[in-house]
Amino acid sequence: MSAPHRRLPPLLALAAALPAGAGCQTFESYRYCPELPGAQLAALPARLSETGLYADLRAGALAPEVHAYRPAFELWSDGAGKRRWIWLPPGARIDTSDMDSWQFPVGTKLWKEFSRDGVRVETRLLQRTGPGQGDWATMAYLWNDGDSEATAAPDGVEDARGTPHDVPAAHECMGCHGGRPARVLGFSAIQLTHDDPPGLLTLDELRRRDLLTAPPAGDLELHADAGARAALGYLHANCGHCHNQDRPARTGLRCFDPEKPFDFLLRARELGDVTQTGAYRTARGQAIKPGDPGGSDVVKRMNDRGRFPPSMPPLGSERIDDHGLALVRAWIQGLR
Ligand code: HEC
Ligand code: HEC
Repeated sequence: MSAPHRRLPPLLALAAALPAGAGCQTFESYRYCPELPGAQLAALPARLSETGLYADLRAGALAPEVHAYRPAFELWSDGAGKRRWIWLPPGARIDTSDMDSWQFPVGTKLWKEFSRDGVRVETRLLQRTGPGQGDWATMAYLWNDGDSEATAAPDGVEDARGTPHDVPAAHECMGCHGGRPARVLGFSAIQLTHDDPPGLLTLDELRRRDLLTAPPAGDLELHADAGARAALGYLHANCGHCHNQDRPARTGLRCFDPEKPFDFLLRARELGDVTQTGAYRTARGQAIKPGDPGGSDVVKRMNDRGRFPPSMPPLGSERIDDHGLALVRAWIQGLR
């Protein structure tokens, strides 16, 4: 489907200067992520087969030391199927001294593959290029018709490979990934705490392989009933990368950064008591009205795909996630 924010004329920079609430134009000014430096794009391979993911791309054989994993709480992308992998430079460990913001060694690569309606559409790459927190190169690779190669698509592709799936441009990645200091969103202590089929990397497995500088003693699971855990996990994975209070400060134009200090992110130190979580501390009584899902802005924004007020999430989805919405509704209904 069309992605109206894809190419913004420079005029919209002016909209950023308008007072809040000046009309629906103003939200467009939130949608502006700066272009990436050409040098950063040029540093990435032109073909997926050259990125180090596969030993043999056509055969689907992964390269040595590339590990598959899956986050406990997934991002909804209009029903797209996903697979994910990580590669760490040999001998290097992940700096886990901040349990909510793991620092990955320079050279680390993560990939995420998207399929829609049975068609493999794209594989995304995040690669740490330097010691600075923002030193990550980003690219999506578009699969060809024979599935024999995927090539870099720095400008993105709408309705790619005959599906309704839009491949984001390289600078749009930061609309979501730029919302967290460490940039990686789904490979974390909380997201890797789950029992997965063998062969997938989990927190346990990372500990066993001695890949963490400061391994947590136990698992990082929210102490709450199943309904609250599912709803708060959903908000963590689908909203927390933009709505969190340790978001890097905005420099220049707005790249999907919210004004209100809602915090939908789960944090390691808050898992023992559900009332300590960001959603309770910052949104309960405001965008979350206990016992009243229909009157809660969180539900209203999720249950909409209109342009104003902007539906949530404002990027990466065109279809309402009925299942996720039901989880959040049920949880709010039961809140007192
Ligand atoms: C709509 C928000 C959004 C956009 C836009 C987006 N991502 Fe992500 N991405 C996420 C979230 C959230 C996760 C973690 C949850 C998951 O994997 O389901 C993630 C996970 C990933 C991962 C796995 C590592 C990680 O951070 O967990 C890679 C690799 C990745 N994205 C690459 C990209 C690239 C490259 C682009 C741009 C071409 C991009 N993403 C655009 C939200 C986004
Ligand atoms: C890509 C970044 C991004 C994601 C992901 C995102 N939001 Fe937002 N959100 C924004 C921006 C930008 C605004 C508008 C600016 C504002 O109102 O502060 C906003 C506004 C809101 C508002 C209205 C704030 C107000 O004024 O009361 C609510 C409620 C909200 N978001 C809920 C959610 C929920 C729930 C999710 C997950 C399902 C979510 N958002 C995901 C960026 C995001």
